[in-house]
Amino acid sequence: MRVALGVGGGIAAYKAAELARALMERGASVQVILTAAAEEFIRPLTFAALTNRKVITDLFGNRSADEVLASSVEHIRVAQETDVLVVAPATADLLAKFAQGLAGDFLTTFYLAFKGRTVLAPAMNTNMWEHPATQANIDTLSKRGHTILTPDSGPLACGTVGPGRLPDPVLIAEAVALIAHPRKDLDGETVLITAGPTQEAMDPVRFISNRSSGKMGYALAVAAARRGARVLLVSGPVNLSAPYGVELIQVRSALQMRDAVMSHLPESTIIIKSAAVADYYVSQPPQQKIKKTAARMGLELDPTPDILAEAGRSKGDRLLIGFAAETQNLVAEGRRKMETKNCDMVVANLVSQEGIGFESDHNQVTLVMRTGETIALPKASKADVADQIFDHAMTLRLALHAEQ
Ligand code: PMT
Repeated sequence: MRVALGVGGGIAAYKAAELARALMERGASVQVILTAAAEEFIRPLTFAALTNRKVITDLFGNRSADEVLASSVEHIRVAQETDVLVVAPATADLLAKFAQGLAGDFLTTFYLAFKGRTVLAPAMNTNMWEHPATQANIDTLSKRGHTILTPDSGPLACGTVGPGRLPDPVLIAEAVALIAHPRKDLDGETVLITAGPTQEAMDPVRFISNRSSGKMGYALAVAAARRGARVLLVSGPVNLSAPYGVELIQVRSALQMRDAVMSHLPESTIIIKSAAVADYYVSQPPQQKIKKTAARMGLELDPTPDILAEAGRSKGDRLLIGFAAETQNLVAEGRRKMETKNCDMVVANLVSQEGIGFESDHNQVTLVMRTGETIALPKASKADVADQIFDHAMTLRLALHAEQ
């Protein structure tokens, strides 16, 4: 995939370096185009080192007449050699120029000369993003068929809190990969995935939870969407951007997760339960904050509903994949959970080792299959592990159908 990465002049420009790397990791060749304003935030050398390519900077700048003449045809050549243009951060100024068709520098000239798919990742101050002028430009650009990645909400560099943050560069790269290279082996599938932890209230201000970051479940959701599935992602509270092309259903507690899973189960063809659901909860949390005293305190806990087991009882011919987070007897525990919860596959995950499992960007898992096989996958990024889980799930489904 040949990607042109346009970088606008905003504080999020430094994240474009991570984006360049994430695109390269997905096999893209990346031609970076910096606006003059972007060069104030990040130097071309950073991108040249990451992409092994000369970075294109301003069309006119301080150049000689010969250089200007050469680069004025370069934008046509580069445009012809590009599959996807991604602009990140797309500033309010760039959005306005694209919408109006102004072509005063290389990036805006390139934009007009380019006929392929365009992905815009806006990032700016909340008021600028919400301004009717910016929203009108977004409307124009989206009607033009461009993919607009909605900015994340959160604390911004300017000190305000609200929408305007550049989404996670890895998710932008996934969106670009999805657009450039649709791999369609999950076409027609509806994949229901659970991710992240649950939070169980102890009182109005405290909760019981666990270390799950949601990275494994979100990687599964990204992979499924890239491979053509409709994806329903039931997520506990995590600090991750909503993946492009995925229907996100946010929940907090195990009971809410149960309701979301069971209500979407009928429309799903594959269910993957990677969430770290609390096993216990306070069924009647006090309405008021528990006061601190010098005395010891006990907490009465009830078991949460076992969502995987409940899904197993009504799965029909859906493919049901559970996870098993274990600190010992990995395969035996994985197989036990597969039998007791009626799964077709259990992804057994050792969670006592540094660098894999909870919070890490990498994982190492063993797939325990209903057909009797056990497949130990090598340590890899959670994105790669997710793809391998789907590869084996599709083979398993064929084997299970052949058995019937
Ligand atoms: O989120 P990350 O930081 O990326 O970490 C990934 C992970 C370690 C959380 C993930 O890879 C993983 O192992 N998920 C399963 C965690 C877990 O709760 O395992 P368990 O062995 O306790 O539960 C077994 C299965 O039953 C799981 O599919 C779980 O979702 C499900 N379950 C558990 C309890 C419950 N009340 N309802 C359930 O459905």
